[in-house]
Amino acid sequence: MGELREISPDLDVAYLHGASVDGLARTIGQAAAKLDATQAGYAVGGIYTGLLPRRFRAAHGAYYTPPALCERLLDLAEAAGVDWSSARVLDPACGGGAFLAPVARRMVEALGCRLPAAVLSDIQGRLAGFELDPFAAWMSQVFLDATLVELCDGPDIRSEPVVQVCDSLARHEPQDRFDLVIGNPPYGRVKLSPELRAAYQRSPMVSPAALVALLNSKAVDQVFRCINGSVAVSAYELQALPLPPPEDMQEMERLVRSQAGREALEREAEHLYTQRNIE
Ligand SMILES: C[S@@+](CC[C@H](N)C(=O)[O-])C[C@H]1O[C@@H](n2cnc3c(N)ncnc32)[C@H](O)[C@@H]1O
Repeated sequence: MGELREISPDLDVAYLHGASVDGLARTIGQAAAKLDATQAGYAVGGIYTGLLPRRFRAAHGAYYTPPALCERLLDLAEAAGVDWSSARVLDPACGGGAFLAPVARRMVEALGCRLPAAVLSDIQGRLAGFELDPFAAWMSQVFLDATLVELCDGPDIRSEPVVQVCDSLARHEPQDRFDLVIGNPPYGRVKLSPELRAAYQRSPMVSPAALVALLNSKAVDQVFRCINGSVAVSAYELQALPLPPPEDMQEMERLVRSQAGREALEREAEHLYTQRNIE
């Protein structure tokens, strides 16, 4: 990290005034080129985020993750069963590519000695990064390309972009299905628009008391008899029991809270199972 470590803590406005921007960019580029792609990404990302206006940085939660921490999280994912030779992986707030580059490296290692072009196309089909800040997204893609450059060993073999500039929270693409979603989400003063807040609002919780009232009802007893012909309940039958959606349980919640009698609870359970046709 030699030269970059020396540059980045001192990279303030006074330093910029004393050096031409071109010269400074060249010095940083030359120093970064001596590092591996992940270390270079972190060092250059640190300079970039350090130069961002404070408000922009806080609004985006732009604080990039050190390589050692990323490796540790990826080790944990691996220990939990993630198979880098087949898993589809997303960093939905990929910043400067802190996770994408090391994930790509692990994918290359896991795929072993297949043809480079096949490895490249396989990885590009399974790895994705989303990022709101277009410059960070570009940086992510550059450091990912630097990680995969050795696979581009022919004139027609090029790496395709895997990083998209977008708002992850506003995406609803059917193809967005992943085995591992990993990253360091924006934190701090990041605010949601009223529309996003409404869209992500939690569905109402069902209290244990309301659930017990439902499970204890004649209506549920009937359902169990239909499922397995008896009222002896195993964990399997409980799992198979059709339950009303949480939003439909609000009247049951109200009845339990107001300590309504058995009859009222039975009526509501009956209503939930017959009138609403739960399947
Ligand atoms: C804490 S940083 C982490 C970046 C990277 N994953 C890392 O670990 O170094 C969060 C990133 O999320 C991006 N971001 C914030 N809101 C986002 C959104 N709604 N959709 C996509 N990216 C977002 C920010 O621009 C920032 O780069």
